[in-house]
Amino acid sequence: MLKGRNLIDPMDFSLVELEEIFNYADEIIENPKDFSHVCDGKILATLFYEPSTRTRLSFEAAMLRLGGQVLGFSEAQSSSAAKGESVADTIRTVECYADIAAIRHPKEGAPKVAAMNSKMPVINAGDGGHQHPTQTLTDLLTIRNIKGRLSNLTIGICGDLKFGRTVHSLIKAMSRYENIKFILIAPNELTIPKYIKVEVLEKNNIEFLEVEKLEDVIGGLDILYMTRVQKERFFNEEDYIRLKDSYMLDKEKMVKAKKDMIILHPLPRVNEIAVELDTDPRACYFRQAKYGMYVRMALIAKLLGVDK
Ligand code: CP
Repeated sequence: MLKGRNLIDPMDFSLVELEEIFNYADEIIENPKDFSHVCDGKILATLFYEPSTRTRLSFEAAMLRLGGQVLGFSEAQSSSAAKGESVADTIRTVECYADIAAIRHPKEGAPKVAAMNSKMPVINAGDGGHQHPTQTLTDLLTIRNIKGRLSNLTIGICGDLKFGRTVHSLIKAMSRYENIKFILIAPNELTIPKYIKVEVLEKNNIEFLEVEKLEDVIGGLDILYMTRVQKERFFNEEDYIRLKDSYMLDKEKMVKAKKDMIILHPLPRVNEIAVELDTDPRACYFRQAKYGMYVRMALIAKLLGVDK
């Protein structure tokens, strides 16, 4: 039963519950008009203390396409956070106006604090360098629908694995499926955090390999998940400048990739994927962004307990 629940961590839902959301997203994709009134009279609040294009707009598009309405803010400065209001007080206020909320915050754990102080469902739309569970729903639906399975996959994750919250959430979520192998491709300074390695990968006996060179491993991948270097998480601009162009996927590197390998990226992209690859049928990152809207439609409907 998903009605009334929060989504703060990708492990909050069981595999059966995830499948329920994905099946519902597929139904919406098949017949979107059938779902255009399921949220009539409902309001989604989008509380974004950090910049966003995809997550905020896909949440808002999702609610509007379900017949609901949206309110919120897109930067902390335009809310009373600028005057010092706490997340707890903000969510207590917003629940007077809305039925469900999606919150993005630079501080790790802020959406959890919001959920602990809210009677309406709260969704983590990204907290610092920690987790991004609705991006993971997006990634899983994309993989499931394009590759046709969520098991028996070798997944290369490339770029900023230290600060990339989408990476942390994806590894957690994919670790529950059968026969998943991760190839973690990062410069030494941006490798995966120890807690993910120890508490997720090693604890669950998930096969993984850490390497620095993408060219050495690209040929064995079913999925290549590229990420940008997370400028906003660096304390030192010099370090960012030195590391920002660590990887650039281009036509030359793709020569070694399997014919059915798919390229994913949570976006925004900076320089990690050459624009020349956008027409390669293996480039699936804009399709992925669209799946993000459908999976958020399914999530909102399930958490509100509404149906057609
Ligand atoms: N993937 C993602 O979170 O993108 P935005 O930062 O644009 O929301």
